[in-house]
Amino acid sequence: MSDMPPDREALQALLDFHVEAGVDLALDETPHNRFAEQPPPTAPERSLPAEPRTEAPRQPSAPATPARPLPKAAAGTPEDAAHLARELAHSAQSLEELEGLLAAFEGCSLKFSAKNLAFADGNPQGRVMLVGEAPGADEDRIGKPFMGRSGQLLDRMLAAVGLDRTQVYVANIVPWRPPGNRTPTPQEVAICKPFIARQIELAGPEFLLCLGGPAAQNLLDIKDGILRTRGRWFTYKAGDGREIKALATLHPAYLLRQPLQKRLGWRDFQALRRALDGKD
Ligand code: URA
Repeated sequence: MSDMPPDREALQALLDFHVEAGVDLALDETPHNRFAEQPPPTAPERSLPAEPRTEAPRQPSAPATPARPLPKAAAGTPEDAAHLARELAHSAQSLEELEGLLAAFEGCSLKFSAKNLAFADGNPQGRVMLVGEAPGADEDRIGKPFMGRSGQLLDRMLAAVGLDRTQVYVANIVPWRPPGNRTPTPQEVAICKPFIARQIELAGPEFLLCLGGPAAQNLLDIKDGILRTRGRWFTYKAGDGREIKALATLHPAYLLRQPLQKRLGWRDFQALRRALDGKD
């Protein structure tokens, strides 16, 4: 390497290249243990609500977060985080309360790199609940699921079967954006799972639409990939014993990358329409 400082144009070109490639986090060359600089993941005795993390708009139905302290976690292991998540999720008596508890929960490290919690969008009273994988950059900025290009395609698919977000409820199995849009780890999914399970239970939809493999595999407890499971109806067993008809379909982000597969997506949405109309 030469000792000459890189010129401004070269630096600009390199920066442009990184932006094009989707790099949106600056990391140092030597690792830092950021969590050592944070309060412990399962901080004891904090009052809700948590401080808003950015000035990005919150959901219209901003939750009246419960002003009660979180239970103490014994230690900061992933198992403790999952245990605390189960306790908290189970204790929520409404979606607003659940959102408040999730906003204050510090057992999932994704919370610390995300700008916002993207808890839900749409109508929790809708007959259909759609569940995707995890927020992307747009969702993270806005604080709601499916706001970017995938969300726009999702809206077009919903419109094709006479639905819109005033009629459906939308969430993700993981409510914080994984850095750089990486896939959430199994551990992150496991820690967040009690929250999405309780969210489904409290919303109580008639139909559940799992968008993509991770949502289908984690919610429906199946191992097969989405290309094998899409278009098939499953039974989702909610924690309160209710059985919800669940359909697995391709994720809109996949359909954007593989437009030829859109016909399969349309087919699944038509199957949902028929089920809503009591025709299946
Ligand atoms: N992809 C998802 O799975 N969820 C979102 O909210 C956005 C993109």
